[in-house]
Amino acid sequence: MKEFKKIGVLTSGGDAPGMNAAVRSVVLSALAKGVEVVGIYKGYTGLISGEVKEFSAADVRHIIDDSGTHLYSDRCLDFKTPEGMAKALNTCKELGIDGIVAIGGDGTFRGATDLSIHGIPTIGIPGTIDNDITSTDYTIGFDTALNTTMKLMDNLRDTCESHARCDVIEVMGRNAGWIALEAGIASGAVAIAIGEVDFDADAAIERIKNLKEKGHRSFIVAISETFGAEFSEAFAKRVQDETGVETKFARLAHTVRGGSPTLRDRLTASKMGKYAVDLLLDGKSDLVVCEKGGELCTTEIKFALIVDRMFKNTLKEGDLDKFTPEEVELMRNICAKKQAAFDDLMNTAIILAQN
Ligand code: F6P
Repeated sequence: MKEFKKIGVLTSGGDAPGMNAAVRSVVLSALAKGVEVVGIYKGYTGLISGEVKEFSAADVRHIIDDSGTHLYSDRCLDFKTPEGMAKALNTCKELGIDGIVAIGGDGTFRGATDLSIHGIPTIGIPGTIDNDITSTDYTIGFDTALNTTMKLMDNLRDTCESHARCDVIEVMGRNAGWIALEAGIASGAVAIAIGEVDFDADAAIERIKNLKEKGHRSFIVAISETFGAEFSEAFAKRVQDETGVETKFARLAHTVRGGSPTLRDRLTASKMGKYAVDLLLDGKSDLVVCEKGGELCTTEIKFALIVDRMFKNTLKEGDLDKFTPEEVELMRNICAKKQAAFDDLMNTAIILAQN
């Protein structure tokens, strides 16, 4: 089995609260096993340019509660080119990097699988506020983003109540409605629009009218950014025109991507970081760390990427050809379970908004 003397850790894609806690865990877990660690800056960009630093325990001291990513992040297009990959492999060779832990979302995992294929064992850790990695129940940063979104929605609710207003609030989640759905429920939203479940705009307007008649003064509508600002602003205008409730539009945008990570994110990051190092040193590669039913487990990155496309309806021709019928069936089951989770929660949201 390959002997690991030094590993690298990087963060890539959109930053997420808890990424620093994951880096800390990777560094401390590796050092505890006598393996050196280099921090790779700006994601795969730093791997190409050789922007790295040897990390000691002191370098990750007191970063567990920091938001953002001290390693910085980038969405690196060069890494997808043969020249970019050649430079990255050269950096690994020159610096003696035997394996890498890559923290991020699906773009990060595509890079991780490419590295694995080229002989650098790589393990992915899911870090994105969107919670949109289909193969795992949880991604680092989601809980913090949810809590921040909920608090901001609560603040908007306070002033809506004073002035008898509605606030239509657009929240992050490029291809996933988890933040809008869960924070919306937690803030008592009257309507929630996400890409995964059909949105009945007429029914939402009717609910607001009914509740107004019952004496409600404030209304929160949560809309995932998947719909685009035009849709959200147009819906806000419709609410105002058809219900007579003065309606404002707010876009929370990146405000929910910062902030000190919650306990859930620090703990998950700490567990996943150690788990990833154990996997690497155990000779594993090309895997993404997942959480299912509260337990840590792994999924092959190539499987994780395709089940993701299946759920998001973005499968390309031939995507399923590399998998056995049993694996494809498993993917369909995972997607059905995810969809059922969305449907159930949306049903709860609508029931709770009746009275
Ligand atoms: O992937 C996380 C995310 O915050 C999405 O919710 C959002 O659409 C996107 O990143 C924004 O990306 P950027 O920070 O590059 O504008």
